[in-house]
Amino acid sequence: MGARKTPSEPSTPRTLTDSELVIAAFTELADEYEATVDRELRMFWGVSYRDFLTRFLAIAATTPGECVLDVATGTAFLPPQIAATVGAEGRIVGLDITPAMLVQAAQRLAALGWTERTPLVCGSALAMPLADASFDLVLCALGTHHMKVPLLAAELRRVVRPGGRIVLADVCANDFWRSPAGVALLRVLIIGYGLSLRSVRAQAEIEAFDNVRTPDEWRDLLTEHGFGDIAIETIRSRYPWYPSGIIVSARPA
Ligand SMILES: C[S@@+](CC[C@H](N)C(=O)[O-])C[C@H]1O[C@@H](n2cnc3c(N)ncnc32)[C@H](O)[C@@H]1O
Repeated sequence: MGARKTPSEPSTPRTLTDSELVIAAFTELADEYEATVDRELRMFWGVSYRDFLTRFLAIAATTPGECVLDVATGTAFLPPQIAATVGAEGRIVGLDITPAMLVQAAQRLAALGWTERTPLVCGSALAMPLADASFDLVLCALGTHHMKVPLLAAELRRVVRPGGRIVLADVCANDFWRSPAGVALLRVLIIGYGLSLRSVRAQAEIEAFDNVRTPDEWRDLLTEHGFGDIAIETIRSRYPWYPSGIIVSARPA
């Protein structure tokens, strides 16, 4: 008689969709997210997670009364700080696709007493369950490389109100990445990275590689999606094969 398969036995592996991979990666990472990203930013750019987001918030320059969306809010590091500047007349909504990250976010907001004023939404930034033209300011920090960026740009354009603005921060590609030597070296480094870590997070970062844009590619993409007044600040990486940093702000044209 053949052995019966119990539900706990591994089934045939199947390929995860992009969203499933991201959710699995950030579920794995959620408890240690901030310590991990702090270590990585210090290694890439010589800047702490807190200092990087402080710089990002200085560019976002929120003002009292604004209605703000934090796309890919993660553990909600940004919302309490934004809530403090937009004040009682303003509003800050955090959106993320990974429930485990939102659990961390909810705990942070509850501990600070901000739960009522900072709603969290579980959903994809590529099809946001949010109304057109409903935010003065849309932010996205360190999340764009996990997304198909043309779809994200279209959604950002849809939810930001006329006269509003978007501010994005993430890793970006540099000229070395686009050179033939850079393409070849990065391919080798990525294989090594995947083999050395063997985690679902490493797999998600490798899959994200194609979404990482140069500053010029960001400018072209946002222009194509109806944005103007585009300002870009970059942070040089310590080595040409590390991703650089970028903070982009733009307004609906
Ligand atoms: C590196 S974390 C950034 C979190 C936070 N913005 C910060 O600065 O610490 C990336 C976040 O993007 C979220 N994410 C990735 N793809 C997403 C998508 N399509 N829609 C919404 N959130 C997404 C992940 O779940 C994760 O919480």
